[in-house]
Amino acid sequence: MNPPDYEYLRKLLKDHSGLDLSSDKQYLLESRLLPLARKFGLAGIPELVQKLKGGSTACTTQVVEAMTTNETFFFRDKVPFDHFRDSIMPEIIKARANRKSVRIWCAAGSTGQEPYSLAMCLKEMGAALAGWRVEILATDLSQEVLEKSKSGIYSQFEVQRGLPIQMLVKYFKQSGEVWQINADMRAMVQHRQLNLLQDFSQLGVFDVIFCRNVLIYFDQDTKINIFNRLAKGIEPDGFLVLGAAETVVGLTDAFKPFPDRRGLYRPSGTAGAPAKTAVWPKLSAAAGV
Ligand SMILES: C[S@@+](CC[C@H](N)C(=O)[O-])C[C@H]1O[C@@H](n2cnc3c(N)ncnc32)[C@H](O)[C@@H]1O
Repeated sequence: MNPPDYEYLRKLLKDHSGLDLSSDKQYLLESRLLPLARKFGLAGIPELVQKLKGGSTACTTQVVEAMTTNETFFFRDKVPFDHFRDSIMPEIIKARANRKSVRIWCAAGSTGQEPYSLAMCLKEMGAALAGWRVEILATDLSQEVLEKSKSGIYSQFEVQRGLPIQMLVKYFKQSGEVWQINADMRAMVQHRQLNLLQDFSQLGVFDVIFCRNVLIYFDQDTKINIFNRLAKGIEPDGFLVLGAAETVVGLTDAFKPFPDRRGLYRPSGTAGAPAKTAVWPKLSAAAGV
């Protein structure tokens, strides 16, 4: 790939998705974008760059989507879901006993394994959440992964990654070669396309935000900007959960880590303060559990 085309694509991706490619990722770009160029009936990357320069929005969207890494699986890394079940939810159930509502945001939910893992954790809590209003919002930059997430349909390979067999049997139905998560579980998760680079204040305030394995692709300034905006979208006694390779440490004081809970953070300065009145923007009906 010629250097000017590479620089053009690097900048386009940084501006549109935050993806911060180092100067030696020509191979990655080519392997993902050549098939796309062919799909558009173009000979190669230079022609694709010309099309992008011509201002094709559809082409830009597809290039950005093609460069996202959507790797995910059920109960990925296990520990965050143990924290969710054993620390986060017990504390929320106590703190919101009067309000009986909880809002959870999966800020880069990809194909749905993460939000549905949370939905299964909540279902397993049974009576403890009876009568509660529960909202799980799954967002992602990529419309394509959101469509798959909405469908709740997974291959045999995907359900064998991280999902305990008892949960597969309990919450999924097999249909030929694939498995679909049951309708009541699908109803617990709302979906919305959202770019973390853009303003998300309209989503309101959450009790728990899972923002895992997405900030690793961004540069420091972008991470700091997103952390500072996430801090405004979380209750003072809420929780932020990051991926194993991500941290706020050295980037922002807006959150502080739990000393003995890897990957778990709370807004700083106001820890222990009572919850604000819940803000419920109109997304769609929240499901009960
Ligand atoms: C590696 S997956 C992580 C999925 C899940 N959170 C997990 O940890 O298993 C990263 C996801 O972030 C999404 N993504 C990338 N850039 C984004 C952005 N600027 N805004 C929102 N989502 C983004 C990608 O489309 C992808 O689905």
